[in-house]
Amino acid sequence: MAVLGAGDRGSIYAGFLAQSGATLAAIVDRDQQRARHLKSRLSSDALLFSNWKDLIRAIQAGSSPPANGRAAAKAIRKPEAVVIALPDAHHLEPAIAFSRLGISVLLEKPVGLSLSQLHRLGRHVNGLRRKQNRAAIVVCHVLRYSDFFGKIKCLLQEGAIGEVRSILHSENVSYYHFAHSYVRGNWRDSRISSPVLLAKCSHDFDLLGWFADSEFRSVASSGSLSTFLPENAPLGATERCTDGCPHSSRCLFDAPGTYIEGLPMKRELARSGFNGIALAARAALRFPALFRSSPGLRRLWPWPYWPTSTIVSGPVSKDAVLEALRTGPYGRCVYRTGSNQPDHCDTTLEFENGITAIMRLNGNSFQEARTIRIDGTEGTLEGRFGQGGDLRLHRHGGAKTRRIPVEVDPAGHLKEDRALCHHFAALMAALRTGQDQALQAADRTLHQVIQGHRMALLAEKSRTTGKTIFR
Ligand SMILES: NC(=O)c1ccc[n+]([C@@H]2O[C@H](COP(=O)([O-])OP(=O)(O)OC[C@H]3O[C@@H](n4cnc5c(N)ncnc54)[C@H](O)[C@@H]3O)[C@@H](O)[C@H]2O)c1
Repeated sequence: MAVLGAGDRGSIYAGFLAQSGATLAAIVDRDQQRARHLKSRLSSDALLFSNWKDLIRAIQAGSSPPANGRAAAKAIRKPEAVVIALPDAHHLEPAIAFSRLGISVLLEKPVGLSLSQLHRLGRHVNGLRRKQNRAAIVVCHVLRYSDFFGKIKCLLQEGAIGEVRSILHSENVSYYHFAHSYVRGNWRDSRISSPVLLAKCSHDFDLLGWFADSEFRSVASSGSLSTFLPENAPLGATERCTDGCPHSSRCLFDAPGTYIEGLPMKRELARSGFNGIALAARAALRFPALFRSSPGLRRLWPWPYWPTSTIVSGPVSKDAVLEALRTGPYGRCVYRTGSNQPDHCDTTLEFENGITAIMRLNGNSFQEARTIRIDGTEGTLEGRFGQGGDLRLHRHGGAKTRRIPVEVDPAGHLKEDRALCHHFAALMAALRTGQDQALQAADRTLHQVIQGHRMALLAEKSRTTGKTIFR
């Protein structure tokens, strides 16, 4: 396989696919330090490229005899698959280019940034099949591969709540995650990345379409940016948290507090119950000096995990993080970044089969968790996914609530990332042995994913125009 984008997502998928037996043949990243870091982490002898078009040229050179008797500077055997984990604006073009060569694609969302791009992707896949090209395109909607949402889908298919009538789904993004990604970070400006309803909630619109099992009929959305505005900055706040801001000790969004001390993440983990991670987080909050000085614990300071791991190019160190905060976007005062993403938004959907749904984006949450309630003619399913999981089934005709056991990561969605990679590796194996039904199933899922993206884009259009949009 080849990996395009050696950042957070690309590194995670490369690791899990390597565990599933894949060999890393090439890494593409314009930041060559990141590419080298991933290469050495996986002890791989992958070739490094800074541009995916150079990789295409190297693949073409590897599959044709040298022109004028001269070998190309870089030639590489055609990989079986590529992972595309570049920023949002660089998904569709490489997906089309690599799949045209017969290379299957594990593609990060969003798969397109406009309705016309989505249409183009749909047409492209139809064209591939007409030409007997069997390259699959699998989108990284990792929640589909989770135990939690997978069980909901099975229960609905088994008729556990009768006929579905309505769905209430919230994507609760913790306040510091929202600030990191959608206020300071890569998605702060929807015009140069993508609207948060697409970037974050395409997963959720996809789930709604999957559960409703129907095309959507209408979308109406309202919401705004209310928290991260200049008028909400406390008096005297500096442009950067590292400029000696007088509010640093009280500010929820203080950058050194977030990226070096890991305070918001530790607080969230500390609240997550009575497991080992929660106890360790409580100890870290109570005895911070111990974590800075004790040899055994020092590797947890500065905070080495997400989101800090995404703001430096190489290994996390205090100096590297401070430099990133002094010079990069993550040290800026959250109230003055000029973000244009709504931090709260409700979308109402109606499906062709009559099911109605409400999808809430909440960027001011105390914890990172999706919550869902699905009501049917014979029962209700209720659950929380994030910081552990909880799924309950109430049957109208029963006297007891059934608690459905679910496996959910205490933090993040690594389990789901791993499950997606196993699914992709299994699909590759099925394609190798000519199992066309696996490819047909992948194409059906891709069609649903494109519908979910359409819902997200139309929700943004409805939010900004104030109109209900019909399909
Ligand atoms: N499926 C999910 O749950 C999920 C979660 C988070 C992010 N994402 C998506 O994954 C994608 C990657 O996100 P990330 O968090 O890994 O970002 P990241 O910034 O950590 O990684 C992106 C990498 O691409 C490199 N890059 C940027 N432009 C490039 C170019 N033109 N050519 C070559 N390399 C380039 C960067 O140097 C960086 O290493 C985004 O589109 C994001 O929306 C998906």
